[in-house]
Amino acid sequence: MTLYGIGLGPGDAGLVTLRGRNILDDAEVVYSPGRLSESVAAEHVPEERIGEMDFPMTRDEEKLRSAWKDAAAEIAPRARNATVAFVTLGDPNIYSTFGHLRRTLSAFHPAVTVETIPGVSAVTAFTTALGVEISAGASLSLHEAARGTAPTGPDRMVLFKVTDVPATHEQLTEAGYDVVYGRRLYMEQGETVVTEDPAALCDRDYYTLAYAQKQELEAKPVTAEFETEGTESETAAKPDGGKPPRQGRTCSDSADGVGKTPGAESDQYFADVELERAIAAANGDIPEVPPR
Ligand SMILES: C[S@@+](CC[C@H](N)C(=O)[O-])C[C@H]1O[C@@H](n2cnc3c(N)ncnc32)[C@H](O)[C@@H]1O
Repeated sequence: MTLYGIGLGPGDAGLVTLRGRNILDDAEVVYSPGRLSESVAAEHVPEERIGEMDFPMTRDEEKLRSAWKDAAAEIAPRARNATVAFVTLGDPNIYSTFGHLRRTLSAFHPAVTVETIPGVSAVTAFTTALGVEISAGASLSLHEAARGTAPTGPDRMVLFKVTDVPATHEQLTEAGYDVVYGRRLYMEQGETVVTEDPAALCDRDYYTLAYAQKQELEAKPVTAEFETEGTESETAAKPDGGKPPRQGRTCSDSADGVGKTPGAESDQYFADVELERAIAAANGDIPEVPPR
């Protein structure tokens, strides 16, 4: 039989694909690596068919490899005799834990057939949630921007793991980008926030992404000129219509004052890494070994 890696989409149970849903119906066990993915799976699968997996909170690569070996050893015998699923949020092949399982099974349990069912990724869902259109001819690149980092260069970027919004924002705007943020998009757990104001996102939440677009870019799809026929407010609300307003507030105006960029060697840096890993693990993303 087969182990299916199923992408559950960004968090709304209604955004699971039909194919994913059909396999969830058939699966004898549905393994979930974390609470958030489990809560989405639980909308489709009775609790008694959901299997939890525990992963250690460690940076130790040997311990992480050992945890994946244990997970594969638990799944393999069941997957040889029945349909089994492993769920991840978004798509199983985008910044996901599923690759670790697939590689470990292939190395130690090659008899298990593995199949991947794509999911609606935050990489695509962000466009609708943020009112962004990536029109024909435009390029878009995907990056991580964890711990207050800010990649720059490409015309348009979608940034994942934006855990220190104010610090990332400062660098992006200095580099000439307009930026809009999305937090917990299409998630039934927690509050969904879409904003251009970094001060609205001073607290850290792992499920935060950003769309950054160079200010001088002009969108020229053939129908773009229709937009000038709309009212001013309609134009501003459209993707690529109007620049996001500059925001005056800062995080020091807010209660927790978060917003400093931690130095790579600082205690704050390691505290941030641990926090991210804890949140990620709790939400179903097995911690990677972070760069030092
Ligand atoms: C480890 S990646 C997992 C990506 C997932 N496999 C996918 O395809 O969407 C986690 C990052 O994706 C982004 N993300 C995932 N789901 C999100 C959502 N519903 N709302 C906002 N950001 C999300 C956040 O930047 C988060 O830090």
